[in-house]
Amino acid sequence: MPLVPMRVILEAAEKGGYGVGAFNVNNMEQAQGIMKAAVETNSPLIYQVSRGALQYSNKTILRDIILAVSAQTPELPVAVHLDHGNSPESCKEAIELGFTSVMMDGSLQADGKTPADYDYNMKATKEVVDMAHAKGVTVEGEIGQLGGIEDGHGSGEEKVTDPPDVKKLFDDTKMDACALAWGTSHGAYKSTTGKPPVLRHDIIAEVHKLAPEIFIVSHGSSSVPANLVDAVNSFGVIKKYKSEDGHRHLAGYGEDFDLDADDAKKIVDFLYESERMPKSVGVPMADLKKGIQNGVRKINVDTDGRLAVTAAILSVMQEKPSEFDPRKYLGPAREAVYEFAKNAMQGFGSVEHAGDVEIVSLEEMSKRYK
Ligand code: G3H
Ligand code: 13P
Ligand code: ZN
Repeated sequence: MPLVPMRVILEAAEKGGYGVGAFNVNNMEQAQGIMKAAVETNSPLIYQVSRGALQYSNKTILRDIILAVSAQTPELPVAVHLDHGNSPESCKEAIELGFTSVMMDGSLQADGKTPADYDYNMKATKEVVDMAHAKGVTVEGEIGQLGGIEDGHGSGEEKVTDPPDVKKLFDDTKMDACALAWGTSHGAYKSTTGKPPVLRHDIIAEVHKLAPEIFIVSHGSSSVPANLVDAVNSFGVIKKYKSEDGHRHLAGYGEDFDLDADDAKKIVDFLYESERMPKSVGVPMADLKKGIQNGVRKINVDTDGRLAVTAAILSVMQEKPSEFDPRKYLGPAREAVYEFAKNAMQGFGSVEHAGDVEIVSLEEMSKRYK
């Protein structure tokens, strides 16, 4: 089956009252791991690709990998979505690459950092809607500002979404879906208080009531599982500083420094802590399920996939530091992505829903938009 517009996947999710994971991919192993999870659970699938991922893969390469992986499972509805397009030009490029959905993130200016005003957001989103809908491609907008900065993306300041603004942006642009700022944030450090981030479930419920035509998107939805963070922290770095008996020391440098024991310990403790991922709590699955009950249909997950890949690779390298065959650590990484994605699909409720999706070509969809 050729790729489908993301809209038909979200329409089915709205009808069925479930959520669909939108998983960021950068390489073949992630694409295959996620596809294996979707096939096994018979879930509709949204791959999403950031501008950074496109650049990393020389643009057409990642697109071709996704197409090749999707072609192996023609029974499954798959959409390919541009994550955080920063301008109408970046959305145009993705549409030309064959993406079936694009995000025009007009909540920020083109630098991906400076908050944009309503007028800027509306004009950029409308320009993308006009261009994309003419080709049957789905459009996701965003209003409000998520907290947190991930790889330079985001203003760092949170401004939760005001529900009437979503309705206004929809009336002015006719976008299909909209990302809301409701307390989530991008990246692995969503909350360092030891408790999950405080989420505004009321915002989701109110937007769903005010503008039921809009498919609600939750960004920054990784759960940041403690076992994966612990796994990343316990491999690699620790080995450098921790001796067999659990005593921390600078491996290999013991004799080189004329330090007293207290100073040496302070330095070692500092290095040890500064190279670890700080403890943080992500978005609990229970909150995502409640969000879905209130109307969230697309759930963006990137960080959990990154953690799964990294923990698996470090685990292999810890076991066998001399391993130099990439298949020996990328294979387990692919399996780890499969496990995490399957768990997410089960939690979001998309299991056994692949068959709900109406198979519509981009051409047919473009006629429906007229
Ligand atoms: O929301 C941003 C995504 O996590 C993508 O991150 O630009 O580093 O690929 P990236
Ligand atoms: P996470 O960093 O929580 O995985 O969020 C990813 C995201 O929102 C991509 O758009
Ligand atoms: Zn995002």
